[in-house]
Amino acid sequence: MQIDNFKVEEWFNKYEKDAKYDLADTCVDSLCIKDLLELSGETYEQILERKLNYGDIYGSDRLKKGIAGLYEKQKGDNITVTHGAIGANQLVMLSIIEPGDKVVSIVPTYQQHYSIPKSIGAEVKLVFLKEENDWLPDLEELERVVGCDTKIICMNNPNNPTGAVIPDEMLKKIVEIAKKSDSYILCDEVYRGLNHEGNQFSVSVADIYDKGISTGSMSKTFSLAGLRLGWICANPDIINVINHQREYNTISVGILDDYFASVALENKDKIIRRNLEKLNTGKKILLDWAKNEKRVHIVEPKGGTTAFVRYGLQMKSTELCAKLQNDTGVMILPGETMELDGYLRIGFGNNFEQLKSALEIFSDWMVKH
Ligand SMILES: Cc1ncc(COP(=O)(O)O)c(C=O)c1O
Repeated sequence: MQIDNFKVEEWFNKYEKDAKYDLADTCVDSLCIKDLLELSGETYEQILERKLNYGDIYGSDRLKKGIAGLYEKQKGDNITVTHGAIGANQLVMLSIIEPGDKVVSIVPTYQQHYSIPKSIGAEVKLVFLKEENDWLPDLEELERVVGCDTKIICMNNPNNPTGAVIPDEMLKKIVEIAKKSDSYILCDEVYRGLNHEGNQFSVSVADIYDKGISTGSMSKTFSLAGLRLGWICANPDIINVINHQREYNTISVGILDDYFASVALENKDKIIRRNLEKLNTGKKILLDWAKNEKRVHIVEPKGGTTAFVRYGLQMKSTELCAKLQNDTGVMILPGETMELDGYLRIGFGNNFEQLKSALEIFSDWMVKH
């Protein structure tokens, strides 16, 4: 199967290990096993005695209960557990999209959402988010492009890279647009639970639309990317179709991943509170810097872990990021890897001292260029 290069992942493979200051990361300061045991009161013995068999094939009841607790209307039958959200998205697409189908993908987004459909032989239409709309979709344009013959709309909310959060009322309007063409909506909700203000959890597409499919994972909201554990939530008919495909690539997730994820979900309030404190601190550092740095402009991110920063230098973003890292060790992700040149993605959920220093270094570097 021919498939385009995954530009973001390739950038990480090439640059991350040599970065002195990593502003490209999308996680919030990952937890270690000790942190997880301390905040939950579980003991090492409970881990040591676990038999390493395949475990529950579609995810343990304890885990599914924890996942269901993130939604309004989802129960065990609505859930299947996957290898990260990356595995979840791929399974959804392989299960639903056929050659010749029309797929509408709202970009910028995680590249899976347009490159996998393209590789299957679908006709992929991109709808670009625009800075002047605060990175929210233009519904008239979306409606026009979706028309009445779309098989699936692929989107991501809260959005990576822009940090935009689609208001609940707007999501309902997107569902109305999808209904006109009887299309599925795949909403990658891997940053759901990280709205910076108000209700931390936006409405999930799986809770408001019977053809709405939500994917999520432990990686971002719960700071446990190393578990490689994600899920798909949708109505049981859709889950059955997906499980049919899943038999060929998953069997089950690791039994320890299932266990640690269950423990984390039982303590979700503590983890999310911790992460939102960190994100709000990091965001303030970033916005304060941008206020005094006339060469950049940022639409304030409302959720998630990243901002999409417009810059004024006459340079392609890949060239800028490669030179910047080579000269200073500061790693930032170029917008070109997400189909929008002229922008840079900056993550703000990690080490704040590093973030502050790296932004100052970046400012000095821009003066010279
Ligand atoms: C929007 C989006 N979807 C999916 C993924 C993959 O996440 P996971 O670690 O759960 O596989 C990422 C990772 O950066 C992401 O940003």
